[in-house]
Amino acid sequence: MKTLVVFYSRKGSTERIARGIAAELEADTLWLDTVYDLFGTGGFCQALGSSVFNRELLLFPYDEQVSDYDRVIICTPIWAGKVCRPVLEFCRKERHNVMAADYVFVSATGKVNADRLADSLDRLLRLEHGSVRVFRSLLGRETELTAHDE
Ligand SMILES: Cc1cc2nc3c(=O)[nH]c(=O)nc-3n(C[C@H](O)[C@H](O)[C@H](O)COP(=O)(O)O)c2cc1C
Repeated sequence: MKTLVVFYSRKGSTERIARGIAAELEADTLWLDTVYDLFGTGGFCQALGSSVFNRELLLFPYDEQVSDYDRVIICTPIWAGKVCRPVLEFCRKERHNVMAADYVFVSATGKVNADRLADSLDRLLRLEHGSVRVFRSLLGRETELTAHDE
């Protein structure tokens, strides 16, 4: 099965988790990059605004053909209780090309409504997800909190 691990990461936690999963599965990776600089205090405010006010955050183009993959593992930090905006942009753009999806949610508190987030991505992608994994990232360490297959 050909698998693509897609992620956005502002500070590196989601990237570490995504690359770890990709290495285990020998999967390809796709790092989503935004045309805006989301680092520093200004970047944090822009990232927060994109989530709170549903503001678009354009992605740089990428070469990967998502429809070539049997499964896409979508790894996203949580911003203001939501899937981060760059990952939402990816899902909107690729909604006709993702055949099957698993989700990985990463947040500082680990307190996320995984079912609600997974449902929102399912609606965007028009599919029913496979597995959902939740990680807490605190002080540069990532800990998996739950892992269940549905
Ligand atoms: C704009 C913004 C909003 C955030 N909102 C939340 C939140 O609602 N709940 C939470 O637990 N963490 C929140 N965080 C923290 C991130 O989810 C957490 O630091 C995550 O590990 C970031 O992943 P990264 O290191 O791959 O960028 C937020 C971070 C940012 C930048």
